[in-house]
Amino acid sequence: MASVKPILCVGCTVIDFVTISASYPKEDTDERCLDGSWQRGGNASNASTVLRLLDAKVEFFGMLSKSDGFRVLLDDLRRREIGVQHCPMTDKDPPFSSVIIAQDTGSRTIVHCNKNYPYVTWEDFSKIDLNRYGWVHFEARHPTETIKMMRSVQEHNSRQDNRIFISLDFETLYEKNLELCHLCDYVVFSKDLATRQGWRTAQDTCKELALALQPSRPNIICPWGNTGASCLDSSNECNNVPAYEPASVVDTLGAGDSFMAGFIYASYVMKCRLPDAVDFANHVAGHKISNYGYDHIAQLNKDKENAIKL
Ligand code: FRU
Repeated sequence: MASVKPILCVGCTVIDFVTISASYPKEDTDERCLDGSWQRGGNASNASTVLRLLDAKVEFFGMLSKSDGFRVLLDDLRRREIGVQHCPMTDKDPPFSSVIIAQDTGSRTIVHCNKNYPYVTWEDFSKIDLNRYGWVHFEARHPTETIKMMRSVQEHNSRQDNRIFISLDFETLYEKNLELCHLCDYVVFSKDLATRQGWRTAQDTCKELALALQPSRPNIICPWGNTGASCLDSSNECNNVPAYEPASVVDTLGAGDSFMAGFIYASYVMKCRLPDAVDFANHVAGHKISNYGYDHIAQLNKDKENAIKL
């Protein structure tokens, strides 16, 4: 895989304060948890972690912080060899999430706190030599800046034979972020956002989004928890791909980010067709939720070649 260029993941990195509780706590009670930890979180940040665990070359591009608490995150990025050389730094305290994982149901409840932490700009992005990358992944955030970054990738593609693929993780603010979909090759649309739109299944979501984006649209993928995922390619072929359900659901925090990373890995590094890439993404997400954190995902490297045949 020496010839595969790195993947650039653009987005947020935050501190996740994770509390593992036997069950979801009652309001206004005082109880002890089973365990807890701080870890690096954030959508593009988690996707970078999982891509590295699958053995891809990855760089992260997001706002880093000089604050003391952020050092844990920087150490973790360095330890995992996730490149951060292009990231700007701020003095501001980083965003954080308070996360409760309920052991009896496997649910994860996230309360996110972001006090106007700055986001990376097109100006920061324009200093990066895009020749380095074969895939650039974006979070659907800050559309005015993100659209300019995507256009820079498209302009790069119009000048080069080796094109860069663009993916988008679409989880929030439907109306505001919709225009970003026109500029990418793949959009992964979250179940949460689909439900808020009143869309009832993964397949409906692919079709509704396609309708909203016509006439020109990217490949659309929608993961839907334990009912699997659907995908709709550019020639309107729709596939429903079943989930991989682990023996027990232990930790669903970052399952969507793991799906995203599995999808990018299978499409770009393994060169899978769309439904096979979605199948591999389901496999990564199913394996992720079988244990805490992300490190166990590296076990998939052993059967990566066979994974799409399972
Ligand atoms: C999980 C996650 C967490 C983070 C939150 C940000 O998908 O990336 O790590 O706290 O979402 O929205």
